[in-house]
Amino acid sequence: MTDVIDRSPDFAPLAPALAVARTRADDAAHTLFYSDVVAGLSATPKALPCKYFYDERGSQLFEAIVRTPEYYPTRAEIEILTINAQEIAALVGPFAHLIEFGSGSSHKIRLLLKSMPELASYIAVDISQDYLTKATKMLSREFPDLPVVPLCADFTQPFALPRVARQGRRVGFFPGSTIGNFAPEEAASFLEQTARLLGSGGGMLVGVDLKKDSIVLEAAYNDRAGITAAFNRNLLQRINRELSANFDPEAFNHRAIYNAGEGRIEMYLGSRVEQSVHVGDRSFTFGRGESIHTENSYKYSLAEFHALTHSTGFTHGQVWIDRRRLFSLHYLVVR
Ligand code: TRP
Repeated sequence: MTDVIDRSPDFAPLAPALAVARTRADDAAHTLFYSDVVAGLSATPKALPCKYFYDERGSQLFEAIVRTPEYYPTRAEIEILTINAQEIAALVGPFAHLIEFGSGSSHKIRLLLKSMPELASYIAVDISQDYLTKATKMLSREFPDLPVVPLCADFTQPFALPRVARQGRRVGFFPGSTIGNFAPEEAASFLEQTARLLGSGGGMLVGVDLKKDSIVLEAAYNDRAGITAAFNRNLLQRINRELSANFDPEAFNHRAIYNAGEGRIEMYLGSRVEQSVHVGDRSFTFGRGESIHTENSYKYSLAEFHALTHSTGFTHGQVWIDRRRLFSLHYLVVR
């Protein structure tokens, strides 16, 4: 009893300070979410940033999307990582820090870690805090000798590396064709920013979905089980939960089409009826059939992706593709 009272002065000041820090970061994120949603729904045509898909529920739904029979990119990329793990590990080299951008479940990295026993650290960067904590705890249990560092950050914005990774070689890991969710100019500036973060001697593994028949492409974003549709609508549910809005998600349909001219899948939520919705104290009207553009997923030929990286701080190292030529994995070297 006295023990507890004696100790309390040492610990008491810490707890409130941490609580305040956490609340301020959450407040800032909440304010940004609100202003992004208000700006997006005020624009013509209406659009919402795709990074907000990934709250905990969204991250779980995404894990279900990648298991649907129609969503080929994950299986194709896993095939590439599995078959070429040794060669990839040799390029990454020993004692490097491996930094994953948007680590999600950290499933794909496991395929490489087995071939990289001498890795200095694995830094998992993800926007979803709870999901990140769970995924990295599980990974640490599986690889007890590997320093695993969770870093909750929005990688579309500049962020600082944890202290462990400030020295030594750094290699980025950016699978899943997430690069395709940037417009090409944004992808180029992301690569440029990343080349600076990784520094000279660094490298970057990037998964890129290839151009192909539009039937195959469109099916991947319109799975029969309706999981992609649920994932798309979860964005409205998240806005309801976090920004006190009153969207009826069922009053919006999911649509994904391939725009061959732009070389991208476009995803929308279309209003089934004329309606008005409020978000906090703001109100927005939707005409019947009016859409919210929620995502783009750009597809590249090998030559197009080479040309894109050429304008950044990287040069081309190596490229692997799967047997069905659906997907590509590129190794880029910091110039
Ligand atoms: N990077 C993935 C892609 O473009 C993300 C993704 C897959 C996705 N399916 C989705 C995003 C459905 C939104 C909706 O393929």
